[in-house]
Amino acid sequence: MNLPEYSFTAVVLATIVTCIGAPAAHAQRSLEFASYSVPASGAIALAVRKDGGREGAFAAVDTITGGALQRAITNAGFDGKRGTTLNLHGIQPYAQVILVGIGSDAVDARLLEDVGGLAGAAALQSAAASIEVLWPDQTPAASGAHIALGIELGQYRLRKYRTPAVDKPELGKGTIVLRVADADAARESWRRDWQPLAEGVTFARDLVTEPANVIYPESFVERTQAAFKGVPGITLEVLDVAAMQKLGMDSILAVGKGSARPPRLLLVRYRGAGKDVAPIALVGKGITFDSGGISIKSSENLWRMKYDMAGAAAVTGTVLALARRGAKVNVVAVAALAENMVSGSASRPGDVVRTMSGKTYEIMSTDAEGRMVLVDAIWYVQERDRPRVLIDIATLTGSQATALGDEYAGLFTRDDELAGQLIAAGKSSGEEMWRLPLHPSYAKDLESPIADLRNGGSSRGAGAGVGAHFIGAWVKPGQSWAHLDIASMAWRDESSPTIPKGATGYGVRLLDRYVRETIEAAVPR
Ligand code: BES
Ligand code: MN
Ligand code: ZN
Repeated sequence: MNLPEYSFTAVVLATIVTCIGAPAAHAQRSLEFASYSVPASGAIALAVRKDGGREGAFAAVDTITGGALQRAITNAGFDGKRGTTLNLHGIQPYAQVILVGIGSDAVDARLLEDVGGLAGAAALQSAAASIEVLWPDQTPAASGAHIALGIELGQYRLRKYRTPAVDKPELGKGTIVLRVADADAARESWRRDWQPLAEGVTFARDLVTEPANVIYPESFVERTQAAFKGVPGITLEVLDVAAMQKLGMDSILAVGKGSARPPRLLLVRYRGAGKDVAPIALVGKGITFDSGGISIKSSENLWRMKYDMAGAAAVTGTVLALARRGAKVNVVAVAALAENMVSGSASRPGDVVRTMSGKTYEIMSTDAEGRMVLVDAIWYVQERDRPRVLIDIATLTGSQATALGDEYAGLFTRDDELAGQLIAAGKSSGEEMWRLPLHPSYAKDLESPIADLRNGGSSRGAGAGVGAHFIGAWVKPGQSWAHLDIASMAWRDESSPTIPKGATGYGVRLLDRYVRETIEAAVPR
């Protein structure tokens, strides 16, 4: 056997694999808009009001089926309850009828998105080439755009590691046609205002879903560079280890030094407003894998700690969404990227660290690493960018999850106005939070006999608040600041209409909405 033959075979094999073997990153149907009419055949997804409301599209379709549709849903006990679906085959003359419950609540953006999400998820499983989505009546263009947002978000799946033989071949093939009153206006609203948001959420979900052998600090930076290539108004700054050493960022370096993958500080600046307008700074925890370090975690669910960079993904995805839709705002996203590993070069409990600001702390637990990377990041961005508002977002503590469960992120801030704005944006975007205290007494939990602070309290007590308080010690006086603990929000074991299982992308919809409501609403467009 000689080598050239081997390499020839390898080239041929590689070519075959790239041509037929490589699955698309996302199995997703393409989305189209068409004017409102009720199709008389094919596959349809029909939104249905709870109980009474059987007028409009439902009545039209039922008539076409000679009453077979109504009989089928009566037999199945489907009542149009919000969040339910019924998948019917063999209702002549339709190939398939997917019913999605609307419920009886007042129709708002979140309801439209949820119905779209369920229709999208059901469509993903269908073999039909085209599926027509219908609200019971003609909806205005803005409503159509929200249904479309749901359709996109509900279909999210990362499929690049599944070979086609494992997945159904039809998965994600074909189109979804959304039938709305004014198709041109809906398509335009979607492209201009909402499709960029879906792109930002998808970008964040991808980064979180990707395993830690694929996404580590340097590859997170490369992904971001690729995603922002050619996007107007964007500049990227990347600090490597040498640059961080020069700046005295020993805190982020202390987290990264146990890993073979060196840390990075990534800043994505977007200028959509005047150059003298102070930016909004969004700082994200970017631990690409959290083993706990020398204070090692137990192995149960440890695989999930690939999602400990969800804050960094959220801020980067938010800026992608804002820049893609040309938002009139200046914003800087900071991703504090490191891998928290166990090795002979790792930081130890008891080590004293000097941060970029000069303030020192003693490491109580190497597993309280999120706050360690964040404080250098927020110090740097305060020095460089003088932000008008500083928001950090982090999968910081298990204690947040214990306090608030799956429904709310933890919000910590001393700024009541900012609290109100974020809570309002949470309600309208569907990414909600609950305000928790930053009690001055938490300072006691952070006292160290040899350094300015220590990085954690005792194992008892208000863990999430103590973590927030630690971060707050690096916030300059007078700086408007909020901390969001998203430990329970960034990952889901069960799907909901617009959030398939796994990475949620939490924070992108919230922060995009915060900018829309508090900055853009105040600026004439
Ligand atoms: N990344 C974890 C927090 C976490 C836990 C996120 C579970 C998502 C799910 C964080 O770095 C951590 O380990 N926090 C410690 C802090 C403690 C050592 C002060 C915690 O919550 O136990
Ligand atoms: Mn940790
Ligand atoms: Zn962590």
